[in-house]
Amino acid sequence: MRSFIQTSSLICSLLVFVACATKAVGAVNKVDHGVTKEIALANFSSDQLQQGQNLFESSCTQCHKLFEPNSRDASKWNNVLDRMLPKTSLSAEEGKLVQAYLLANSK
Ligand code: HEC
Repeated sequence: MRSFIQTSSLICSLLVFVACATKAVGAVNKVDHGVTKEIALANFSSDQLQQGQNLFESSCTQCHKLFEPNSRDASKWNNVLDRMLPKTSLSAEEGKLVQAYLLANSK
């Protein structure tokens, strides 16, 4: 009986661990909502913004037309990116560049 309880609690811990680990992978694609248009402009070079634009144009056209950066404000873009970045194969770093480009040119 004792070992049954121990085994069950071990399996339980494992399940919790797996659930958390899987969640952490998804969370990598969540953008930092503290980034505003001003912060994006101040912290990213024009080179990085250009890279962000290239990634945006190549990765965000797979399913629909390109949305104009100035069609939304920074906080709308952050919400959209939380949903859209996981649909792309962009890394967390590349996602930040796309975010910076969109926010720098947002409404
Ligand atoms: C795998 C397909 C796919 C990819 C890749 C994708 N999208 Fe989308 N996108 C969708 C679908 C489906 C919708 C409509 C449903 C929805 O809003 O979730 C949508 C909707 C949108 C909208 C309108 C949503 C709103 O609420 O205003 C914007 C803006 C957008 N996508 C931007 C992007 C950006 C930026 C990227 C690149 C980072 C991207 N999408 C990549 C599938 C995709």
